[in-house]
Amino acid sequence: GRVAVLFGGRSAEREVSLMSGAGVLEALRRRGVDAHPFDPAERPLDDLRREGFDRAFIALHGRYGEDGTVQGALELLGIPYTGSGVMASAIAMDKVFTKRIWITHGLATPGFAVARSAADVAGAAARFGLPLAVKPSREGSTIGFTKLTSADQAAVAWEIARRHDDEVLCEEFVAGRELTVAILGSGAQARALPIIEIVAPAGNYDYQNKYFRDDTRYVCPAELPAPLAARIAAQALDAYRALNCEGWGRVDVMLRKADAEPFLLEVNTSPGMTGHSLVPMAARAVGMSYEDLCLSILAGASL
Ligand code: DAL
Ligand code: MG
Repeated sequence: GRVAVLFGGRSAEREVSLMSGAGVLEALRRRGVDAHPFDPAERPLDDLRREGFDRAFIALHGRYGEDGTVQGALELLGIPYTGSGVMASAIAMDKVFTKRIWITHGLATPGFAVARSAADVAGAAARFGLPLAVKPSREGSTIGFTKLTSADQAAVAWEIARRHDDEVLCEEFVAGRELTVAILGSGAQARALPIIEIVAPAGNYDYQNKYFRDDTRYVCPAELPAPLAARIAAQALDAYRALNCEGWGRVDVMLRKADAEPFLLEVNTSPGMTGHSLVPMAARAVGMSYEDLCLSILAGASL
């Protein structure tokens, strides 16, 4: 049947989604799937049913795409879609809620406070020390993020984050190695792909590094002792299952330098699929092409 590739959208990550969606669309077509582009920022989702689409591949990122809203609309339309359902998408979009759930599961995540003012950011810096990660709770691609290194930047960091969300997360900064774990499948069938280590120039894996520069180094599989790699993969799977994530996703992890303890940062339920993106890189490490990856994600589409 006809497959709609949903991309674009109206979040701050629109530009990223345009790249992800173009890649997915072409890959599905190369494999003979009757796939068509669909930008929910430009057309009402009802058109999907009118035009006879029977599945949707979600390549949207951020608000109104990765946060449960589009998932809810597709549920109402009765069109099976890729990735997590309404609840898991909504929770995973919200880093604060995600952390609360992980904590109830005994999963390690950096200490945090929710800031509702610049003074709260300064308070968190006093409590957790510097540097401090300051970020909008519901945003992606490090948009609105500040690594606070001096308390007198608290007001600026607050302003930058709250432009994107009225809920601002202040998180203990874990110094160490930046890792990510791509996951395919759902429930007991979910499996982790090889871990990727991200080595960004000057240690800042920001928006420019993520999508436009070529000087970030990626190591896949990450060079880790086998028992530690297994532990991190298991922790990422627990983190994914704790939120009831489905289909596919990517769990971001910091490995603390001091003691090699892994800390969970967040789950992306609609990870990037651009030429620079990480899930395709992890898939490649197990011999799975970009096309095979797209077909495998599509095969998991459900209501
Ligand atoms: N939020 C971006 C798209 C990612 O996690 O890949
Ligand atoms: Mg993210």
